[in-house]
Amino acid sequence: MRALTGIKPTDAPHIGNLLGMIEPALRLAEQHESYYFIADYHALTTLHDAKRMRQHTREVAASWLALGLDPKKSCLFVQSDVPEVQELTWMLACVTGVGLLERAHAYKAAQDRNQDINVGVFTYPVLMAADILIYDSNLVPVGKDQKQHVEMARDMAISFNARFGPTLVVPEPLIREDVATIPGLDGQKMSKSYNNTIPVFCSSKELRKKVMQIQTDSKGMDEVKDPDTCNVFALYRFFASPEQQAELAARYRAPGLGYGHAKQALFEAMEARLAAPRERYEALLTRPEELEEILQDGAVRAQHLARNTMQRVREACGFLPTLRTAR
Ligand code: TRP
Repeated sequence: MRALTGIKPTDAPHIGNLLGMIEPALRLAEQHESYYFIADYHALTTLHDAKRMRQHTREVAASWLALGLDPKKSCLFVQSDVPEVQELTWMLACVTGVGLLERAHAYKAAQDRNQDINVGVFTYPVLMAADILIYDSNLVPVGKDQKQHVEMARDMAISFNARFGPTLVVPEPLIREDVATIPGLDGQKMSKSYNNTIPVFCSSKELRKKVMQIQTDSKGMDEVKDPDTCNVFALYRFFASPEQQAELAARYRAPGLGYGHAKQALFEAMEARLAAPRERYEALLTRPEELEEILQDGAVRAQHLARNTMQRVREACGFLPTLRTAR
């Protein structure tokens, strides 16, 4: 089975992304042949700043590598390094009804916000289907918000196959059940739009500062506290061993623990997990050659698959193989 995930390079990852998306996606590589790509074509629907595009593309690639993506076992590449995907986008566009795209949640949400919507936003699901189908992906791990897009990719594969014969692999979405909501600094779900995130890759000093900003109630040192309703403890669960959690929970329930102590314990647990990836991340960004080599190697492997699929697709459509026979 081949699993494929796309990540838009619109921002550096935060702890909510790490626990909710990156770590689960990386675990898939233990069981499946895994392809991970940085969806720069998709980011272009909203990100119109070359400097930031370059920066975020490198940051996202370095993040995944630093967090454990093994580029020898899995394939990491940049979407636009395989421009064949644009050709498949066209073929799929020609078997897709406008009505299907008009029903896309993301498009409707953009309309509701009265945004000035570009054609890229409207055809986004077609490009995403091409991403999935060009690599003959079987499994597409996504969050709930992307489920409809994967279902559309299935519809497009089925429509194409119905017209042109069995050509494209019909993929399955693999919907991530939210393990648990990962709280941000204010206790709401951690999200960039709530401005309550903790970055994965920041200095140890910055990390400590963020942790100290987590909101708590105002109970004093000698009042007993409830770990189950505390934002600090909620995050601690993701970073500490069961023994450490039991120990800190017991300290909450007895006098003598201030929230500053709990925050320090959380900071130390996070630091223990993030210090080594941070070092690797910094190294990858300061040695762009290594990163480039990995991405080049990934692009070559991805392109090989894409070209095979496109050969089948072109033939199925009845396009003449003029140049191929001339060679
Ligand atoms: N649309 C996805 C997101 O916003 C990113 C993405 C692009 C993707 N192409 C994909 C995800 C193909 C899975 C498969 O998160």
